[in-house]
Amino acid sequence: MSAQILDGKALAEQIRSEIKEQVAAFVAETGLTPCLAVILVGNNAASEVYVRNKQVACEKIGIKSEMYRLPETTSERELLTQIDMLNRNDAVHGILVQLPLPKQMNEQNILDAIIPEKDVDAFHSDNVGRISQGRPRFLPCTPYGIQELLIRNHIATAGKHAVIIGRSNIVGKPMALLLVQKGCGGDATVTICHSRTPDIAAMTRQADILIVAIGQAKFVTADMVKPGATVIDVGMNRTEEGLVGDVDFSAVKEIAGAITPVPGGVGPLTVTMLLLNTLTAAKNFKNCRQL
Ligand SMILES: NC(=O)c1ccc[n+]([C@@H]2O[C@H](COP(=O)([O-])OP(=O)(O)OC[C@H]3O[C@@H](n4cnc5c(N)ncnc54)[C@H](OP(=O)(O)O)[C@@H]3O)[C@@H](O)[C@H]2O)c1
Repeated sequence: MSAQILDGKALAEQIRSEIKEQVAAFVAETGLTPCLAVILVGNNAASEVYVRNKQVACEKIGIKSEMYRLPETTSERELLTQIDMLNRNDAVHGILVQLPLPKQMNEQNILDAIIPEKDVDAFHSDNVGRISQGRPRFLPCTPYGIQELLIRNHIATAGKHAVIIGRSNIVGKPMALLLVQKGCGGDATVTICHSRTPDIAAMTRQADILIVAIGQAKFVTADMVKPGATVIDVGMNRTEEGLVGDVDFSAVKEIAGAITPVPGGVGPLTVTMLLLNTLTAAKNFKNCRQL
């Protein structure tokens, strides 16, 4: 029997309509409009698309978005100055620096310059530390979206073996942190694989939940998947066939119990969780001002 297709697009729309209502209630109650500032440095074509998607998504649900474009030749100091201005601006609640950055910049220096209270991507060292301690201020958008997808589709994580391929700071590592936390959407036993893991297939065949985030088209084949497993495909690879994931979808869906498509799986949820984090940042700002 073919797997249940986990429709991230439909779920994202549902969550966005929930956030839209919450934004309207927040504006009515406080007179404040949540605002996300997005900084784009250089002319990376994929980044242009991601940033535009984020802006459109904000506008549709009543979050204000401000765009700051800086040239490819921008120095780290100039970018830090821009971030400092936004940190001090009380009308801006969330700040996002679109990655990747030009090579003259130290990425973590830049991410750590955003004050943690406005770090809606949750990449600041302080926020990463809080997540690892189970007391997050924000959750990183892609793992947060995946956890929400699992919870809302009633896919249990407690006591399950989750195998993650990929150990990036954006997806793999924070995903492991969320799944291993105590409580709803957590309590899993987690294995992380990467390019130095020998015999990855032996690991993935043990997975009740398999999450793949490596950026290699159709890397996971049907023989690597345990029958009935949940397969979450984070990969986005532009190929001659169009956009494809890290999982060989048409073959794996015949083995898996549930699977996300690409496109229409994890991607729309990532942007959705950014919207939720921006609303949370605005609420936290309002609460601080009342103390
Ligand atoms: N849908 C979304 O919203 C969303 C969000 C973020 C990323 N993505 C996509 O997800 C993919 C991963 O993104 P990322 O930022 O996490 O990537 P990344 O920073 O490039 O990290 C890739 C990870 O995959 C591992 N890896 C690469 N090739 C491998 C192989 N053959 N076997 C085992 N491990 C391998 C690397 O191992 P080493 O550490 O050993 O090098 C690394 O840990 C990309 O396609 C990206 O576009 C999608």
